[in-house]
Amino acid sequence: MGLRSKQPKALAFRCYAASHRSLTLAVWSLAALVVVVNFHLLIIHKEDESTSTHEINRSIVSELEEVEEEKFRVSPPRSRRNPRAVRRKGEQKPPSVVDEFLDESSAVHDMFFPERNMAIDPINGGNDSMYFYYPGRVWLDTDGNPIQAHGGGVLYDEKTETYFWYGENKDGKTYKAHSKGADRVDIVGVSCYSSKDLWTWRNEGVVLRGEKKNVTHDLHKSNVLERPKVIYNDRTGKYVMWMHIDDTNYTKASVGVAISDSPTGPFSYLYSKQPHDCESRDMTIFKDDNGKAYLIYSSEDNSELHIGQLTDDYLDVTDNMRRLLIAQHREAPALFKYEGTYYMITSGCTGWAPNTALAHAATAIMGPWETLGNPCVGGNDIFRSTTFFSQSTFVLAIPGLSGSFIFMADRWSPSELRDSRYVWLPLTVGGLPDEAADYSFMFPLWSRVSIYWHRRWRLPEGWRDS
Ligand SMILES: *[C@@H]1O[C@H](CO)[C@@H](O)[C@H](O)[C@H]1NC(C)=O
Ligand SMILES: *[C@@H]1O[C@H](CO)[C@@H](O)[C@H](O)[C@H]1NC(C)=O
Ligand SMILES: *[C@@H]1O[C@H](CO)[C@@H](O)[C@H](O)[C@H]1NC(C)=O
Ligand SMILES: *[C@@H]1O[C@H](CO)[C@@H](O)[C@H](O)[C@H]1NC(C)=O
Repeated sequence: MGLRSKQPKALAFRCYAASHRSLTLAVWSLAALVVVVNFHLLIIHKEDESTSTHEINRSIVSELEEVEEEKFRVSPPRSRRNPRAVRRKGEQKPPSVVDEFLDESSAVHDMFFPERNMAIDPINGGNDSMYFYYPGRVWLDTDGNPIQAHGGGVLYDEKTETYFWYGENKDGKTYKAHSKGADRVDIVGVSCYSSKDLWTWRNEGVVLRGEKKNVTHDLHKSNVLERPKVIYNDRTGKYVMWMHIDDTNYTKASVGVAISDSPTGPFSYLYSKQPHDCESRDMTIFKDDNGKAYLIYSSEDNSELHIGQLTDDYLDVTDNMRRLLIAQHREAPALFKYEGTYYMITSGCTGWAPNTALAHAATAIMGPWETLGNPCVGGNDIFRSTTFFSQSTFVLAIPGLSGSFIFMADRWSPSELRDSRYVWLPLTVGGLPDEAADYSFMFPLWSRVSIYWHRRWRLPEGWRDS
């Protein structure tokens, strides 16, 4: 999260007119894509084999895109106020679903934070739940402990053919540093987990540790370390970590950089700075196919995003910086690329409270960037207007399933931040966008970005073999 912004929480229910038409189109265009890929492979493979793969692929895509509705309703507010009194007082609205969700004593909260006995458990999970993601459930590592990798991102390491999940370890007490302060946990450090299947995660420990004694150090426990992301530099052979570094009051607004020879650390902390002499809060980094890498950060009091190219060693930013989504107040950026087009998911700025996600697209990474609308599909309107009660952190390509990604998000629990949950859902690119009004002849017609709600889902068997 970032600074509690001043703008109101009310984020319009923008685009969810996600008609069945565009969905059908999405399914068909993906199916068409699959057919094309299969034709291509027909040349290489034996005929009977590829016909069956074709069938598998079709069912995979439609399974990921299956729309799960939620019948979830909120009971009317407990005490009904005199509407005139409400008007006089102005602000005093009945508790919204989001308030209920954030109130740890409410039943709504319990619904979205199921108890530990419902955990995703790779050791005792049993066969019927093997490889299934259950967004919002406690997720255990191979030691049986809840995974601590919030605001995280995943690196695929070619050398070890292993996925590494880095994120904030928030396994400490939640408190407010002062009455006006945000709920916080002292810096523990950045955790790393490894996996071959993106489901069974082994704890590789805290690869960048918080500092306990030195109060002037950026990583001193009283400060803030958020959204760590790691990329590999092919030239230097180093693993480079970027993160949001701040003080308790979010006034330092900087990025920090750390480096390691190994994906499992330990990472050496190098320094922090305000990139381009600008504030930097929520951020991410993105490594392009050509080896160039970029820092994307919320700036100017979180009112806009900046994108800046990194130096060749990834240890600093260059002067090449552009401003995007100006005055749109977006944070939690997650970038990905598909068929030469860049996409980004962002959230609004409402502290730990969930809000409506937006998808954006660009043909050149430095922009111009266009807003496509709310990517969320399924659940119900409350789910879709709250990004399924979560906030974006990363988008991971699924190998062998072109156009399919895993959308990674955090379901923050401000009263107990260590108990914040992970929401992983399938994201696909394809079909027509549903906000035609945003387009001019200047810009290409973008594909729709869709994130599909599922209570339970898994990657197709054999996704790694291709
Ligand atoms: C899952 O099933 C396989 C084969 O049926 C069996 O060998 C294995 O022990 C089972 N695993 C669990 C966790 O039940
Ligand atoms: C404390 O941290 C600062 C900033 O990183 C550093 O300059 C200083 O040397 C550190 N002090 C000690 C005693 O390690
Ligand atoms: C944060 O703000 C509070 C209240 O405004 C103040 O007392 C405190 O000194 C500030 N802390 C830092 C690190 O700036
Ligand atoms: C999808 O189809 C392609 C082409 O036939 C194949 O290489 C790939 O393995 C399939 N993916 C899955 C997950 O089955």
